[in-house]
Amino acid sequence: MNYKTKQVITVCGIVLFLFGCSSDQKNKSMIDTKNATVNEKVTSLLSKMTIEEKVGQMNQYNGFWDVTGPVPEEGNAKTKYEHLRKGWVGSMLNVRGTENVRAVQKIAVEETRLGIPLIIGFDVIHGYKTLSPIPLAESASWDLEAIECSARVAGTEAAASGINWTFAPMVDISRDARWGRVMEGAGEDPYLGSKIAKARVKGFQGDDLSKNNTIAACAKHFAAYGFSESGKEYNSVDIGTSTLYNTVLPPFKAAVDGGVRTIMNSFNELNGVPVTASKFLQRDILKDKWNFDGFVISDWASINEIIIWGHAKDKKEAAKLASIAGSDMDMEGYVYIRELANLVKEGVVKESILDDAVRRILTVKFELGLFDDPYRYCDPENEKKSIGNKEHMDAVLDVAKKSIVLLKNENNLLPLKKKGQKIALIGPLADDNNSPLGSWRLGSDDNTAVSVLEGMKNYKENTLVFEKGLDLFTGDVAFTQQVNVNTTDDSKISKAVAAAKSADVVVMVLGEHGFQSGEGRSRTKLDLPGLQQELLEAVYKANKNVVLVLNNGRPLAIEWADENIPAIVEAWQLGTQSGNAIAEVLYGDYNPSGKLPMSFPRNVGQVPIYYNYKNTGRPNTEQHVFWSHYIDSEKTPLYPFGYGLSYTTFEYSNLTIKGGETFSVNDTITVTVDLKNTGDVDGKEVAQLYIRDLVGSVTRPVRELKGFELVPLKAGESKTLEFTLSKNELGFYDNDGNFMVEAGDFKVFVGGSSTTKLEKSFELKN
Ligand code: BGC
Repeated sequence: MNYKTKQVITVCGIVLFLFGCSSDQKNKSMIDTKNATVNEKVTSLLSKMTIEEKVGQMNQYNGFWDVTGPVPEEGNAKTKYEHLRKGWVGSMLNVRGTENVRAVQKIAVEETRLGIPLIIGFDVIHGYKTLSPIPLAESASWDLEAIECSARVAGTEAAASGINWTFAPMVDISRDARWGRVMEGAGEDPYLGSKIAKARVKGFQGDDLSKNNTIAACAKHFAAYGFSESGKEYNSVDIGTSTLYNTVLPPFKAAVDGGVRTIMNSFNELNGVPVTASKFLQRDILKDKWNFDGFVISDWASINEIIIWGHAKDKKEAAKLASIAGSDMDMEGYVYIRELANLVKEGVVKESILDDAVRRILTVKFELGLFDDPYRYCDPENEKKSIGNKEHMDAVLDVAKKSIVLLKNENNLLPLKKKGQKIALIGPLADDNNSPLGSWRLGSDDNTAVSVLEGMKNYKENTLVFEKGLDLFTGDVAFTQQVNVNTTDDSKISKAVAAAKSADVVVMVLGEHGFQSGEGRSRTKLDLPGLQQELLEAVYKANKNVVLVLNNGRPLAIEWADENIPAIVEAWQLGTQSGNAIAEVLYGDYNPSGKLPMSFPRNVGQVPIYYNYKNTGRPNTEQHVFWSHYIDSEKTPLYPFGYGLSYTTFEYSNLTIKGGETFSVNDTITVTVDLKNTGDVDGKEVAQLYIRDLVGSVTRPVRELKGFELVPLKAGESKTLEFTLSKNELGFYDNDGNFMVEAGDFKVFVGGSSTTKLEKSFELKN
């Protein structure tokens, strides 16, 4: 019996067992609080709670079958149920499905002294059952409405399955493609990342958290996890305060301003302090400075890891440090439940720390409507109706198309002709129904994505021949498992070459499997894994008309392909409707409009690479070797941030700063530019505005994105675009975390990528 089967059997047994334990008791905690405000209700409930019950609210247990971290020794079902019945559990994660959720909720509500409902959390990262593209891919759409809609679909399906709370969005900025979790974020830029963070929070939470189709969001991982040294998972982080304030924190701040109800802390340390124990981050910045009034959940057993990092000598000290620092809930760590009540009784941790944490947790539970009806998310009829319906399928197809980035299209090889063509479809990922689902998709079923092969079969007037060319792996692939990449068996390559020889055009689907990125999947190479490069070169030798479709969860270094292959399409892992989206783009039924949210390096040695770097003292004195560069590679990326082509072309002109060239630091500056679709098909362009603050008391990046607009334009059509720059865009954080705008000279750049040349200057005066 494999691990998963075993766990499912356990859970079925548990559900039956639990339903046997019926009770007439009602939700006792709400009896005297019906017409009061949430605050009054929380105060009243808090006044009735024992220390143990308070600690219980701060305790979260993993459910019974999905495991998303190492299982602690205490983590057995018997202990979990005992604690549940005592009212020592405030939340569970990885319990899903209305029946399972109802079962555990029933214990919390009917068998505990106060009947406080559980809040049920789950990693709804890019969809629940119906999957959207992985978040990095979706970010390439720069389409905030589509991104919000995708989160709404995810939230609706999760809520229908009993879930109240998602551990998303991940808002970690990362500049290092080696880090597997870049697939979960919005890429390298804090401005784009902040806009996307807000859109995702809005999508999950809606306007009213108490509706049964909205769930609480969680911005994670607070903070700086995306800067794991050398891209190695769970590693130390060593960044300066300027990067912390200007790059890492802004998307969290945006999520808080957007009303996010929870924040997850993180596995990394910062300045020698594991962030789960960081009072500076959690209490001083998040709760005091930003007035965040939701709650903070630890990452999986990250309170325990304070000990392993060498910052606390035992669980007692870890519980003390984390609670005082402002970690309100312990995820599957068994530290608070074991230590916190005694720490309060001994006077080491003030009871007011518990009161603050529990107040925050109960507030969110009230807002979710769980006290009014703890089973409001447990309606099996709604579960059937809301999950995987046509509306959701259409929404994820829409965002999947918008996420595709056209990287190269020499001689207009794309779009493909719809008739009379013999097309060879080649590659280990071309017929894969699983990989496009990406990582982090525990709520969905395996093998439910539309493959590229299936998508292309819809275009019936061409002849389509499929050859796998390679097996990517030896053995199984799974979310919790290391994959074994095939590096030896090239026996299928010859058949692929033969198919290529007799074809008009070859479409190759290569890249990373969905389980080659995500948590615990750092890489030291950014090439095409296994024998795919060999396959690509062999096929290209046989037929030069190759369209390379990349499936991947991170930027890849594909310098050879860029030099040789005429057309390259970045199609990431696009979720349930992947193959349909890709086929529509290949055939020109959708004109690609995506732009890269992360720079693609030429080689792994350039990493971390990002567009908003500092000038250095020696940026370009090319007459000798003493300047900032490499002797064996160019220093520019292969494809820069913000880059992406279309089947049409766009022209920018007449960049104008309205009202002259000198402004006061308090002014709002209006910038206009003309954008024209100069090709002969309709298309959409992401127009981007960057600034450079030339002299700063803290040096400023060579470019910073400060505005963008997604502009649909018919063939030949033009439009004047208007951007505004005010304090928010022109200022920055100093090294004490104060936001300020400094007088001085600025440049503004507008265009279709971060390397645009169109620029104007202006000056700010005090
Ligand atoms: C991850 C979190 C996730 C949690 C619960 C951890 O290992 O870092 O992002 O939400 O597990 O699954």
